[in-house]
Amino acid sequence: MPPITLSPNTVAIHPWASPSGRARAHRTLNAPLYLTTQWEGADLPELAELFMKSPDRGFYTRFGHPTTRIAEEKIAQLEGADDALLFASGMAAISTSLLAVLSSGDHVVAHHALFGQTLQFFDYLVTTMGVQVTFVDATDTMNVSRALRPDTRVLYLETPSNPIIDILDIEALASLGHTAGALVIVDTTFAGPLVQLPLALGADVSLQSASKSLAGHADVLAGCVAGSSEIIARVRRMRNLTGPSLDPHASWLLLRGLQTLPLRIRAQSDTAARVAGQLGAAAMVSLLRYPWHESHPGHAIARQQMRCGGTMVSFAFHGGSAATRRFVDALEWIPLASSLGSVFTTLEVPDELDFAPEEIGERAAAFAMPPGFIRLSVGAESADDVLADLARGLAAVRA
Ligand SMILES: Cc1ncc(COP(=O)(O)O)c(C=O)c1O
Repeated sequence: MPPITLSPNTVAIHPWASPSGRARAHRTLNAPLYLTTQWEGADLPELAELFMKSPDRGFYTRFGHPTTRIAEEKIAQLEGADDALLFASGMAAISTSLLAVLSSGDHVVAHHALFGQTLQFFDYLVTTMGVQVTFVDATDTMNVSRALRPDTRVLYLETPSNPIIDILDIEALASLGHTAGALVIVDTTFAGPLVQLPLALGADVSLQSASKSLAGHADVLAGCVAGSSEIIARVRRMRNLTGPSLDPHASWLLLRGLQTLPLRIRAQSDTAARVAGQLGAAAMVSLLRYPWHESHPGHAIARQQMRCGGTMVSFAFHGGSAATRRFVDALEWIPLASSLGSVFTTLEVPDELDFAPEEIGERAAAFAMPPGFIRLSVGAESADDVLADLARGLAAVRA
């Protein structure tokens, strides 16, 4: 029987909508959750078989787990990948993938405005493993062309980027990377599989913090990596050795979060587009970054490679940090919180958090976040309530 082709909206909901139909075998609508780290073999050959077949069958949870596997298969389907792997956090997904594909002395080309801790991990690879990294502004493909070398093993991209929301042309950059023989990795955390599909645009690896929109409720820390069977096998070997496997209970919560992903993304992205319109029309806003807003320099590419504008909006005021403080103090209910992508609307001012250590200060300056720059993650509350609270903040900046 040919496989049934289901829309991502259906795949996100049903645990049995995976090629193996694994969860359906249990006759439960929701995925079963086994709180066990070990499985029993009836005899030694069967125990050996469990080991060989893990993670598809249970053996020992560091190597994989049936509940986690259902979530991995679902993510692979959503990403259009052969296979996917889950991790205990987005940073575990990123660091394990890079350790799996890089060796001492290898060269990497990376976009310069990456998530802060990814930048810090690259610094760690440079200082401890002798990896060479050339950071470039990859919004201009010429910069990437010039930086790629015969020994470049990885082209590392993040789009939309955190927090400045740069848009990188995945298709053009993947083609450049492949011409140079590099593996193209895309951090797609700010979009997710219902908004953009890096693999379909030519990337080799699509990874993200699943703590954000995939889980969606600010209650799960997780990360995932999707790609070809061959790449995922390499990353799995490193994960099994270093051990950042996702806890099965977190996998179950992630599966539950995924069920509403299509609904959440549609609602949150619609509200975010309205917020971008509100901010774009406000005279005191000096910088607005929303992928589908016509003022964004990467707007045309974002319209091509993203199915909607996403849920993240960044902006700054002519009045700098003082204006930002007035804005934040005037909000009635939108919480100030560090993470993003959940049903909660939250707001962060990255330069108040001082994440960046000295050594990445120069690169941070290169992509110049204006003082008081605000990163807003638009949630699933009533759009009118979100817009009204932001209007209170804008009135305080105007005053
Ligand atoms: C773009 C991006 N990548 C990776 C991460 C790391 O994810 P986690 O916090 O789940 O480790 C984050 C977290 O904010 C992020 O925004």
